[in-house]
Amino acid sequence: MKLLCIISNPKPLEKSYGRRMTEVFLDEYRRNNPSHQVDVIDLYASNYPVLNYTEIESAREGSKGRMVEEAEKFKSYDKYLVMAPMWNLSVPSILKSYIDHIIVSGVTFRYTKYGIPKGLLSNKKAFYIGTRGGAYPFPASVFAFDLKYIKFVLKFIGVRNFKSFLLENIDKNPEKTEDSFSKKLEKLRLHARNF
Ligand SMILES: Cc1cc2nc3c(=O)[nH]c(=O)nc-3n(C[C@H](O)[C@H](O)[C@H](O)COP(=O)(O)O)c2cc1C
Repeated sequence: MKLLCIISNPKPLEKSYGRRMTEVFLDEYRRNNPSHQVDVIDLYASNYPVLNYTEIESAREGSKGRMVEEAEKFKSYDKYLVMAPMWNLSVPSILKSYIDHIIVSGVTFRYTKYGIPKGLLSNKKAFYIGTRGGAYPFPASVFAFDLKYIKFVLKFIGVRNFKSFLLENIDKNPEKTEDSFSKKLEKLRLHARNF
C-alpha cells in the first residue's frame, strides 16, 4: 500500500497549522501502518513548475513527457493526502500547477465514445487537510472553492472516497485557534487511524 502526501504551503512547519496537521496525520498513519510506503511531495520546496507548451504538446502527441510521467506516478499510489491553505477562495496556484500535470487524457481519465470524461482511477482514497483564515458557513460556503475544487477534480479522475478536515478562523480568531488546536489534532489523529 502506498500513500502520497502533497503539501502546498510555503510556510515553515512551526508557522503553519496545515503543515503541523499534516505531520501529525502522517505520524499517526505511519504508526498504524508501518508496512505502508509514505511519500511526500513538498511543492514549494521542489519549486514545482507551471505547465508549459512543450509539456502540453508532448502529452497531446502521446509521448512521454513530464505530464504523463507525473500522472503515471500519481496513479501508482493507493491513497492521497492533500494539504492546502485557502488562498483567495481557492488553493495556492502551485497546487493547481501540480493538478495540471496529473490530469492527463489516457492516463488519469479518458473520453468515452460519447465524449464524456471518465476517471481512470479506481479503489483509491483521498483525504484533504484545509486551513482557512476565516470561516465559510452556508451561504459563504458556495464560494469556498478550495475544498470543492479538490474534491471535484479528484472525483473527475475516479477518486470517490474523499474525506476532509478543515481548520477555519485561523487568522480571524488566532487565540481560540491556538487554544483549541490540541483538541483538533486529536480528532485528526482519529481520521488518520481510519484512513
Ligand atoms: C495569499 C493569501 C490569500 C488568502 N486568502 C484567504 C481567503 O480567501 N480566505 C480565507 O479565509 N483566508 C485566506 N488567507 C488566509 C489563509 O487561509 C490562512 O492564513 C492559512 O490557511 C493558515 O494556515 P497555515 O498556518 O497552514 O498557513 C489567505 C492567505 C494568503 C497568504
